[in-house]
Amino acid sequence: MIIAIDGPAGAGKSTIAKLIAEKLNITFLNSGSFYRAITLSLLRNNIPLTDTNAVIDHAEKLDLDYRNSRLFLNGEDVEDILHSDAIDLNASKVSCIVDVRHIVNKKIKMITKKISIVCEGRDMTTVVFPEAEYKFYLDASIEAQAKRRFNQGVSNLSLEEIAESIKKRDEIDKNKQEGSLKIAEDAHYIDTSDLTIEQVCAIILDKIHI
Ligand code: DC
Repeated sequence: MIIAIDGPAGAGKSTIAKLIAEKLNITFLNSGSFYRAITLSLLRNNIPLTDTNAVIDHAEKLDLDYRNSRLFLNGEDVEDILHSDAIDLNASKVSCIVDVRHIVNKKIKMITKKISIVCEGRDMTTVVFPEAEYKFYLDASIEAQAKRRFNQGVSNLSLEEIAESIKKRDEIDKNKQEGSLKIAEDAHYIDTSDLTIEQVCAIILDKIHI
C-alpha cells in the first residue's frame, strides 16, 4: 500500500506523513531528503550547481539509502544536517534538473517496491506514484508556512525573510519542467493553515481503510 502526500514547503507534509506512518505502523519516506542529500554532496565537493552535466554525473555516482526514516549518503547518516538555509535554497535548484529527478525517482521506486509506505514530496501523487491507493495534497498559506519554519528554530532568517524565501522556492517548484507541484485530480485536498497536526492526521486517517 502506498499513501502519497504532496504539497508546498511548510504545509506540514513531513510531520504529518511521519505521524501517519507511525500510527499505521508502516515506513515513512521523505523524498525531499534525496534532493537535499545530493545538494549537500555537491556543496561539499564544490561542484557548481550551474554545471548541469557535472551535477548529474555526481548525482549518478552517489550511494543514497533511506533507513528508519533517515537518509544515508555514501553510508553516512546525514539526516540531521539536511535542513540548513544553504541546502534549503540550493536543493530547489538541484531538483529542477530533470535527470536528477529521474535518478531520485528510480531510487525511491526501488526502495518502496515491496513495502507499505507513506511517501511525501512534491510529485509523489502525480509522477512517482500516480497509482497510489491514497493521495493527499496538503496546502497552507505563505504566512502559516513561514511561521512553521520560523518555529522550527533551524533558520537564521527573520520571519519576513523566511516568507520571501518560501515564496521563491514555491515559485521554482511550481514552474519545474518536470515534477512541478500540482494537485492530482484524485487527491484529497486539505488546507492545513488553521488546523493542528492532530486535526490533519485525523482527516487523513479517516479516509484510509486497511
Ligand atoms: O520537502 P523538502 O523541503 O525537504 O524538499 C527539498 C527540495 O526538494 C525542495 O526545493 C523541493 C524539492 N523536492 C522536489 O522537487 N520533489 C520532491 N518529490 C521532493 C522535494
